[in-house]
Amino acid sequence: MKDFAGKVAFITGGASGLGFGLAKVFSDAGCKVVIADIRQDHLDEAVAYFRGKNAAVHAIKLDITDRKAYAAAADEVEKVFGEPPQLLFNNAGVNTFGPTEKSTYEDWDWLMGVLLGGVINGMQTFVPRMIAAGKGGYIVNTSSIGGFAGSDGAAIYCAAKAAVNNLSESYHLSLKKYGIGVSVCTPANIKSNIAEATFTRPETLKNTGYVVNEQSIDSLRRIHSAGMEPVELAGHMKKGIEDEQLYIIPYPEAKESLEKHFQEILDSVLPMEADPEGVKQRNEALRAWAAERREMFAAAKEQEKA
Ligand SMILES: NC(=O)c1ccc[n+]([C@@H]2O[C@H](COP(=O)([O-])OP(=O)(O)OC[C@H]3O[C@@H](n4cnc5c(N)ncnc54)[C@H](O)[C@@H]3O)[C@@H](O)[C@H]2O)c1
Repeated sequence: MKDFAGKVAFITGGASGLGFGLAKVFSDAGCKVVIADIRQDHLDEAVAYFRGKNAAVHAIKLDITDRKAYAAAADEVEKVFGEPPQLLFNNAGVNTFGPTEKSTYEDWDWLMGVLLGGVINGMQTFVPRMIAAGKGGYIVNTSSIGGFAGSDGAAIYCAAKAAVNNLSESYHLSLKKYGIGVSVCTPANIKSNIAEATFTRPETLKNTGYVVNEQSIDSLRRIHSAGMEPVELAGHMKKGIEDEQLYIIPYPEAKESLEKHFQEILDSVLPMEADPEGVKQRNEALRAWAAERREMFAAAKEQEKA
């Protein structure tokens, strides 16, 4: 996608950090922007920023883990702007860090619910509407460089982001036929308010196995104050959309550790010579299965038509 003028862009977590940067960049590019966020104070600040700027911006208070509210937000977008979005940014996120083995079910449920569940809900809500509108579009999921490898202190965050990377690849393949592009952005450090993520943690999921206090929040604030400016990162994401890049990774410092990690994985694969007969047998079975599935799908399609 190269032309953004007049397109509706829906941005979760759009009232702070990277999401707010995306709102600024895509509003400047001529989009009608919907900012969806769980924090009313962030929404108020974002709306105040755009006031008097002659920008088409609509704010919705939304918890992306609430599927009913998500559907209502999608209806609201269609009412306000007359159509579903052609641009979707599944960007809202939270974090909390601690030793893997100390994680509670509530740590798992909160992080997985927002980071993975929120993206799933965004896809389930909007993809059918985008397909039905027939105008194509573009979806970018915000993941993290942490999604490429496990971590000692951020196991749940990394697991959720790994799933976001993976599902983005699947949607990238599946939505091409509808003219809908899909990318995943995997940032390293961003200058944002994510240090305050714990403020939106639901009461019912408060039980944590980690140390979360003023000191831990302050230390996160310090590290994120050195992150990439959200508008700069959003600019890289816009370029990634224009170039239809599956992965958007505008952090050169990530290259070395990614190379090391993927090389370790590749080195774990047995060479072809180790089992040529087994490879042949398994590949033949796979090809036969794929052919059978193609026939099954074709028959189901014919039945649908009849
Ligand atoms: N900050 C970093 O260094 C960093 C690094 C890699 C990836 N990321 C990812 O970038 C994305 C944006 O985060 P950010 O750093 O800009 O943080 P941020 O806290 O500044 O912005 C995130 C916004 O999401 C909102 N949000 C949180 N839970 C929500 C929910 N349930 N429903 C709706 N909105 C919700 C918050 O209120 C906040 O306004 C996240 O997915 C995060 O995981 C951040």
